[in-house]
Amino acid sequence: MTAGRDTVRAWVNEARHIVVLTGAGVSAESGVPTFRDALTGFWARFDPQELATEAAYRANPAQVWRWYQERRAMVGKVQPNAGHLALAAYARQNPGRMSLITQNVDGLHQRAGQADAIALHGSLVQDRWLDAPRNCCEEHELQDGQPPLCATCGNLRRPGVVWFGENLPAEALAAAEQATAECDLMLVVGTSGQVYPAAGLAFAAHQQGARVVVINPETTEIDRIADACLRERSATCLPFLLMESV
Ligand code: OAD
Repeated sequence: MTAGRDTVRAWVNEARHIVVLTGAGVSAESGVPTFRDALTGFWARFDPQELATEAAYRANPAQVWRWYQERRAMVGKVQPNAGHLALAAYARQNPGRMSLITQNVDGLHQRAGQADAIALHGSLVQDRWLDAPRNCCEEHELQDGQPPLCATCGNLRRPGVVWFGENLPAEALAAAEQATAECDLMLVVGTSGQVYPAAGLAFAAHQQGARVVVINPETTEIDRIADACLRERSATCLPFLLMESV
């Protein structure tokens, strides 16, 4: 029997430093599909090896670029939801008390007002050079659907997200590990906990004595070490935990 939402709200009030680790589920109520939902998830409909690896991009840049362009357009049309807004309001009202680590690349936490969110998997809205840029590298737009490239050397722009097999941005990972080492409460929200090193942060928090709370309507890989599992949606649960506390 794990603790319920009232107990978790008391833990939030007691905590010295809270880390919130988020995944695709926090954006689900904004209308962004998750990755692993059996019906609507991206990875139920597309093969990640054909879309989210460097090899796939080099083999078929136009197809991969178009997929990311579609996702970019889609997230541009949706809005942060009550969960994103509750986190941003809490961080604003309690400076220095919360660190937000996200696996999401949709930019919704940032648009809700958390520009300092630690973006472990990069960003859908910023791209970068595929190969290390040379002096000649200047971006040229081609016709719709083609990735921009350098007209001189052919270097391609690529989505600024982390693909399978790639390292996480070193600075973001270091900031995430440091925040985790300093927290006494970690809220793990809307993630299946299947992707590392992100999921490992929850285990590290548990190991160093922090309380770990999972907020997710479904079971996750993190549940077995959690002090509480709240089977709720983030856009309902986070406002309850963070906004209505006394
Ligand atoms: P997943 O698709 O693996 O998991 C999403 C989780 O959100 C599931 O556990 C759902 O039960 C939960 N969920 C759905 N709706 C929810 C809601 N309203 N409130 C709370 N939870 C809800 O997504 P991630 O765990 O984020 O990586 O996936 C991790 C990484 O795998 C992603 O960052 C992406 C992907 O491949 C890269 O692209 C590098």
